[in-house]
Amino acid sequence: MERSLHPGMERRADADETSSFVPSLTYDTSHERMGVAPSNEEHSMSEPHVGTPFAAAPDIHVIPTYWPVPGLGTLPMNAFLLHAEEPTLVDTGTAVLGEPFLAALGSLIDPARLRWIWLTHEDRDHTGSLVRLLELAPDATVLGTFMSFGRFSPDGPLPLERTRIVNAGDRVPVGDRVLEAVRPPIYDSPGTLGLLDCASGALFSSDCFGAPLPAEAAVAASTGDVDPLELRAAQVAWATTDSPWVTGADRDALRADVERVRRLQPSVILSSHLAPVHRDVGASFDALLAAREAAPAPAPTQSQVEALLAGV
Ligand SMILES: [Fe+2]
Ligand SMILES: [Fe+2]
Repeated sequence: MERSLHPGMERRADADETSSFVPSLTYDTSHERMGVAPSNEEHSMSEPHVGTPFAAAPDIHVIPTYWPVPGLGTLPMNAFLLHAEEPTLVDTGTAVLGEPFLAALGSLIDPARLRWIWLTHEDRDHTGSLVRLLELAPDATVLGTFMSFGRFSPDGPLPLERTRIVNAGDRVPVGDRVLEAVRPPIYDSPGTLGLLDCASGALFSSDCFGAPLPAEAAVAASTGDVDPLELRAAQVAWATTDSPWVTGADRDALRADVERVRRLQPSVILSSHLAPVHRDVGASFDALLAAREAAPAPAPTQSQVEALLAGV
């Protein structure tokens, strides 16, 4: 059995040139069917890799990266392609897997057609191909917050003429639909900004709602087959690890924030770090409230990590 570094539901006492991209590549619909797990059999789940894109909603594809984390399972790092009239990419994968990420994107769309790149925040699992895409997508404007752009700038400032600042509540028309900027209740960067696709009701929540899960669950096309208690424990573990402030947050303020987003009644939650949540969306909001009541996540020690790696 896999050992875990996390206490789960423990409660507190106080309660480069991408040669693989071919612009003429045809749109691959072989993985279009909703709810069908993408085919990743060719990859070892012990190595980080870009998975096969799959549909999460009629106009939305997930471009997943799968990242094994010793002792925790596998953490998806998802980017999303929204097939709006003005095509919109949400986040850009990791730099170390930039080539396969761009190949996966290229299997869905010619990047030159992208009109918008929504940067949910500047963490490096979200910005890997951002600079490269500014070249491949000359008509794309990067949407994000001042803080995200500012915190990204030590890696190379984004050209001002290629960026547009958006903040929570802003509405961005993308041709056939409007994207509403939504700050998720839990986040690990002050720049974080998710979005609601007002046409489909899909909520792109950035790091919020993430969960490391066993590999077979992490690569599924939805969380529907995951035991609800296991999912909740993993979401709590992620929330208390990635956003450690949550265990000390003002209870009422956090609840108000959670309810603010719950009232949007998303049709599907598209977290950067979890398979799409189609069913029992409310349970994921409840997991955020549970994270507030959980014990702070312990920091893994050197000996713990060595023991875990030795057991792999
Ligand atoms: Fe993050
Ligand atoms: Fe992230």
